[in-house]
Amino acid sequence: MPRHKIHFVTHNPGKMREAELLFRDYFDLEQVDMTYPELQDDDPSKIAAYGAKYCAEQLDKPVIVEDSGLFVDALRGFPGPYSAYVQHTIGNRGILKLMAGEPNRRAEFRSVVGYCAPGEEPTTFTGVWWGELLTEEVGTNGFGYDPIFSYRRFPVGEMTTEQKNEVSHRTRALLQFREWYENKLSARR
Ligand code: IMP
Repeated sequence: MPRHKIHFVTHNPGKMREAELLFRDYFDLEQVDMTYPELQDDDPSKIAAYGAKYCAEQLDKPVIVEDSGLFVDALRGFPGPYSAYVQHTIGNRGILKLMAGEPNRRAEFRSVVGYCAPGEEPTTFTGVWWGELLTEEVGTNGFGYDPIFSYRRFPVGEMTTEQKNEVSHRTRALLQFREWYENKLSARR
């Protein structure tokens, strides 16, 4: 029987690498590098649900999208929904400057995976990953805010994809999706 295929709509090769590793024994994943309108909302679940529905209808295929962000306690959740914009503008160094001298380094990554098939309503899966902001960039692995984030004193910029995949926000969201989707497929068989 041919393996089932899911389309992952993302520009981000780092997200694709992480998802491929988690799904490779279950189903095939194909990247679709397509731009879709991002709903302006503080709730990432609504953004992912809207994106998944839009892409499923446009492509006429079942898809997943993923929306994530970094929420820093001492900055009252900033950059949160503005994470992509802040990464492009002030970047990791800008966040480190805002955090200079701040003893409370707690931060969390959040990931929401949105799944939708054409003609259906979207479903979302959320994962959270607590850690701490470093005081300087460390390591060259991963992407985005990884070089300024550490988990249990281990800099994420020095983790392999496999190590990050054991604990990350995206893994938590993707694994929930994987389990839900496996059940959905076996109910159809
Ligand atoms: P988006 O979900 O692609 O809009 O990502 C929001 C921002 O958060 C981007 O700048 C990403 O690089 C960053 N980001 C999302 N997930 C991660 C991660 O796992 N590590 C580091 N940065 C991330």
